[in-house]
Amino acid sequence: MKVFIVGASGLVGSNCLQHFNQQHWNVKGSYFSFPQDGLVYFNTLDLNDAQNFNLPDWKPDVILHCGALTHVDYCENHEEESYQKTVQSTKNLLNVGRQCGAKMVYLSTDYLFDGTDGPYTEDAPVKPLSVYGRHKLAAEQAVLNAENPALVLRVTNVYGHEARGKNFVARIVQQCQDGVALTLKLPYDQFANPTNAADIARCLFLLLRDNKTGIYNIAGTDYMNRVALAQRVLQYFPKANYSLEAISTASLAQPAARPLLGGFVMKKFSTEYPEYQFSNIDDYLKTIIK
Ligand SMILES: NC(=O)c1ccc[n+]([C@@H]2O[C@H](COP(=O)([O-])OP(=O)(O)OC[C@H]3O[C@@H](n4cnc5c(N)ncnc54)[C@H](OP(=O)(O)O)[C@@H]3O)[C@@H](O)[C@H]2O)c1
Repeated sequence: MKVFIVGASGLVGSNCLQHFNQQHWNVKGSYFSFPQDGLVYFNTLDLNDAQNFNLPDWKPDVILHCGALTHVDYCENHEEESYQKTVQSTKNLLNVGRQCGAKMVYLSTDYLFDGTDGPYTEDAPVKPLSVYGRHKLAAEQAVLNAENPALVLRVTNVYGHEARGKNFVARIVQQCQDGVALTLKLPYDQFANPTNAADIARCLFLLLRDNKTGIYNIAGTDYMNRVALAQRVLQYFPKANYSLEAISTASLAQPAARPLLGGFVMKKFSTEYPEYQFSNIDDYLKTIIK
């Protein structure tokens, strides 16, 4: 399998790159602003960018689109930029994909839902609350309606190894390891399934190997709020100096509304791959703390 990963300098993309390489697939990954050894430059916003890796020449079987603007509150206040970076960039990649005859894989989110009655199955009705959610939905629909075959993975609360260590769990771990005093004000009313990016990579490998199409929820088996997640991490650092305050989402007064009962039920993946064992946050913490 020949796979091009857009956004391989990020959390999900880098984990997919590593896993697909380990499986001896022919993989190439791209960066945009954060160069990494072995990655090529690719800008989804400008297909005429002279520095872009020549994707039509390389002719991948699959384009995995992990490029994104994931800052939900920033998107709320920068609607046009959010549209360009989420929807237009996806349409641009679909054009290249058509030239290559490649299957498109898109990473989507539980921000497609209003969070009143999650966790959600693949066929639950969507109702995004924010600019980010609306744009992720528009991009997802563009991918699914395109003429080439497509796969959409809906994911949430992703953590795991990444070069910049910027995800929620990695940041707490780093601060604990650095002995930094932590003050955490976290919402007790936002629920989702923390998911290891390494599991997303392993699940996607199986789905691509088996030539699956359509929407799949991929989510860890824990369902918890942010306070519980932080507490789980902090348990591994008994000497950490922290103050943890549980507050409501409303009191945070963030620009973008959040789905409170978010997250997923993995109806399709669990039915089709009943033997697959997901890791959880404890497995991840044990490996990095040993
Ligand atoms: N992380 C989560 O909890 C989560 C939850 C739900 C859904 N998702 C979705 O999963 C996908 C991957 O998320 P992630 O957490 O891995 O994001 P991430 O770590 O922020 O990575 C984003 C990637 O996009 C690249 N990128 C940004 N602008 C680009 C452009 N114009 N052209 C090409 N590449 C560009 C970045 O490259 P540089 O860094 O080199 O600039 C980076 O490699 C996104 O679609 C996101 O919406 C993530």
